[in-house]
Amino acid sequence: MSDSISRRKLLTGAAATAGAALATTARADDPAITEVQPWNQELGDGVDVAPYGVPSEFEADVVRRNVPWLTADATSSINFTPIHALEGIITPNGLCFERHHSGVALVDPAEHRLMINGLVDTPLVFTVDEIKRFPRENRIYFLECAANGGMEWRGAQLNGCQFTHGMIHCVQYTGVPLKHILAEAGVKTAGKWILPEGADASGMTRSIPLEKALEDCMVAFAMNGEALRPEQGYPLRLVVPGWEGNMWVKWLRRIEVGDMPWHHREETSKYTDLMSNGKARRFTWEMDVKSVITNPSPQAPITHESGHTVLSGLAWSGRGTIKRVDVSLDGGTNWTTARLDGPSHPKALHRFYHEFNWDGGPLLLQSRAIDSEGHVQPTKDALRAVRGTESIYHNNSIQTWHVREGGEVENVEVG
Ligand code: MTE
Ligand code: CO
Repeated sequence: MSDSISRRKLLTGAAATAGAALATTARADDPAITEVQPWNQELGDGVDVAPYGVPSEFEADVVRRNVPWLTADATSSINFTPIHALEGIITPNGLCFERHHSGVALVDPAEHRLMINGLVDTPLVFTVDEIKRFPRENRIYFLECAANGGMEWRGAQLNGCQFTHGMIHCVQYTGVPLKHILAEAGVKTAGKWILPEGADASGMTRSIPLEKALEDCMVAFAMNGEALRPEQGYPLRLVVPGWEGNMWVKWLRRIEVGDMPWHHREETSKYTDLMSNGKARRFTWEMDVKSVITNPSPQAPITHESGHTVLSGLAWSGRGTIKRVDVSLDGGTNWTTARLDGPSHPKALHRFYHEFNWDGGPLLLQSRAIDSEGHVQPTKDALRAVRGTESIYHNNSIQTWHVREGGEVENVEVG
C-alpha cells in the first residue's frame, strides 16, 4: 500500500490561523436534549460489579492490536499501543504494547529471586521483598522497541500510528536504583559491564556498560502505581532509560558483572543495524529524537467538515527532553512551532498540540522534534542516505499523513 505524493501537487487545505468561532452541530429538536435518556431514569450498577475497574464499553475499540503477517505465532509476539486513542503522556497499564520472545512468563513472586554474581565482592541473592527494602524512586520513562517503525524503511506501509509508532509506552515506574543493589554486592575494579537475564523461556540477556547501570537504571516492581503487569515483567523488570526496549529485561532474575560485553544473540544476530555498505553497526543503544502526529491519523480521521481542528501528537528522545516540535500541514514546505503541553520529563513522552482552522481540503501532516541536545528528527530520505534501506531498527524519520478532502487519513511518503 505504498503511495507517493508530490507536495507541489497538493493545495494546502489549512487557513493560516485559527480564530473563527467554534460552530456546534446540535439542533434545538435534538433528542439527546429533548428526550430523557435511560441512564437518567434507571439505577446504575452497584460498586460490587467491577472490583477492578474497566473502561466504558463504548471504548471497546481502544485495545492493543497486532499485525497478523508480522506475528509468526502467539508466543513469539508483538502488539501495539493504540497511541491514536490516548491522551497526555502516560500509557494505561492495560494498553502498553507487549513484545515477548517466548510468551508471557507467569512468575510467582514468592518463588522469584534476583541474583547478583560475576565480578563482585559478595555474590548475593535477593527475594522480591528484600528488593523492596532498598530506597525507592518514582520515574516516568518511555520504552520504545528498537524495531518501532521497522516496517516503514522502504515505503509507507501500515495504515495507523498504532502500527507505525505503537511499539512504545510511557509509565511511571517505582523501583530501586540499580546502583544501590550493585553497591550492596560490591563491584570489583575490573567490572565494567553488566548482563541482566530474564526468567522467561527466552532467557533474554543484553550487555550494558556499568556506567549506564550506575547512572539511571532501575529495578522496577511497579508501574503507574500498581504492581507490574505479567506482560511487563512481573514481579521485577530492568528499566534502562532512553535505551532500546530490548535491553529492559523483564522477569529479571540475574545480573552478572563482567569485564567485557558478552556478544550474546540479542546483540549480534539481532539489534544490529545493517548499513548500506553491507556492514552492521553494533551497540546502538540510545533511542533517537522522534515524534508522530497521533490525531489526525489513519485510525483517527477528521470527522467534522471544516473549521476548528485540534492536531495532537507525541515526541520523545532517549537523550533528554524535547525542546521544540514543529508541525507542517503541507508536507514540509512550511513549518509552525507546536504547543508543548504537560510535564517535560527527560526520556519520557512529551505531548504537543497545534490548533488550526481547517478549510476541509487535503493536508500533508508532518511533525519534526528537536531534543534538548539539539538533535533534529530527519526526513525519511535524509535517514536513508545514511542508513540505506536494509535496516529494521532505529527508524526515527519524519512521518507523513495525507488528510483527504472529507477527513480520511492515510500513510504516505512525500517526494
Ligand atoms: N525481557 C525478557 N525477559 N523477554 C523478552 O522477550 N523482550 C524485550 C524486552 N525485554 C523481552 C524482554 C523487547 S524486544 C522489548 S521491546 C521490551 O522488553 C518490551 O517490553 P514490553 O513488553 O513491556 O513492551
Ligand atoms: Co523490542
